[in-house]
Amino acid sequence: MTSIQHTLTVELGTRSYPIYIGSGLLQQAQLLGQHITGKQVMVVTNTTIAPLYLQAVIDGLKSLQASDLQIDTLVLEDGEQHKHLDTVSLIFDHLLEQRHNRTTTLIALGGGVIGDMTGYAAAAYQRGVNFIQIPTTLLSQVDSSVGGKTGVNHPLGKNMIGAFHQPQCVIIDTHTLKTLPSRELSAGLAEVIKYGLIAQPDFFSWLEQNIVGLRELEPQLISQAIYQSCLSKARIVAADEREQGQRALLNFGHTFGHAIETQMGYGNWLHGEAVGAGMAMAADLSCRLGWITKSQVQRIQNLLEASGLPLWGPPKMQVEAYLAHMQVDKKVTDGTIRLILLQQLGHAIVTSDFDNQLLQQTLAV
Ligand code: NAD
Ligand code: GLY
Repeated sequence: MTSIQHTLTVELGTRSYPIYIGSGLLQQAQLLGQHITGKQVMVVTNTTIAPLYLQAVIDGLKSLQASDLQIDTLVLEDGEQHKHLDTVSLIFDHLLEQRHNRTTTLIALGGGVIGDMTGYAAAAYQRGVNFIQIPTTLLSQVDSSVGGKTGVNHPLGKNMIGAFHQPQCVIIDTHTLKTLPSRELSAGLAEVIKYGLIAQPDFFSWLEQNIVGLRELEPQLISQAIYQSCLSKARIVAADEREQGQRALLNFGHTFGHAIETQMGYGNWLHGEAVGAGMAMAADLSCRLGWITKSQVQRIQNLLEASGLPLWGPPKMQVEAYLAHMQVDKKVTDGTIRLILLQQLGHAIVTSDFDNQLLQQTLAV
């Protein structure tokens, strides 16, 4: 059965766009067709996703009314370690070789790595062309495909090179999660839990009650969790597209997490795993500051554990290593580390007003 279960809009004036959530949406080619304006498309994916889902997308594109559509594909190597400028260059090479012009549409078919790189290529190619997100991991469905942050890693810092560039639409086919390894599903749950912790205590409680069914991909539950997450993200992005204020809350757990990812080598810790550990660390520091209770920290740890996520960073990672990487975070201003911490469970703030000794105690656990 193919059906749209939810549609919502990221409200950005003339750049507003829809997010479609449902099962079997890869088979609904008209969704794609509505958002392709030129006569050229390039589907960018990777070696893992291509055998699973590329043909369905191509068949859909071929079935569209505009039969003179030029359809190209590019299959990249899989992995966070390939999320760098050289790989984006391969996208430019292919676009130029196939003579794509300014009216082309890039289609990102894959997880956050493919989405971030394809979006960045779209932001830069001929100073900006259209792109569509078809996210296929839970993490990309609830977070990275929405909001227009695109970019790549640098050896010295995660996501340090990038651009804001909003897609034309986001098509979330929950059916694709059936082939996702369970470790990747857990990584995606970290970003889902994040929305509960930063702004929605009721959603956090709902997740506590439904985590077993979510890990079993119970259709109504997974669709509801994706919808609720996208709704939160869409509201925040609409209010603060360029991260001048509240959008920074979406980085809860990320300053610790990015330090872990950079230290361990991109791809060794999954992004969501690092964020999960980072959220536990941010909760621990919030407790040391007296803002949340030990029993609330325990609830957070219980949910992370039930989601299959780590509760702490790599055992051998030293305080100095954390601090060195945290200094390269995008939220650092004038050399001061700013963190997202919990004033209450379900209410996060951005602050540099914390005791460094307490931060070091958290990092040393
Ligand atoms: P990913 O893109 O590496 O995908 C994880 C793995 O799952 C890959 O091996 C991929 O090939 C595979 N895969 C994808 N879909 C599959 C499917 N349906 N079935 C089987 N295998 C599948 O990782 P991710 O967790 O999706 O994304 C992480 C990236 O997203 C990081 O680089 C992170 O920095 C970025 N990110 C960006 C934003 C943003 O706002 N732009 C937000 C959060 C995270
Ligand atoms: N994932 C953080 C953001 O989109 O702002």
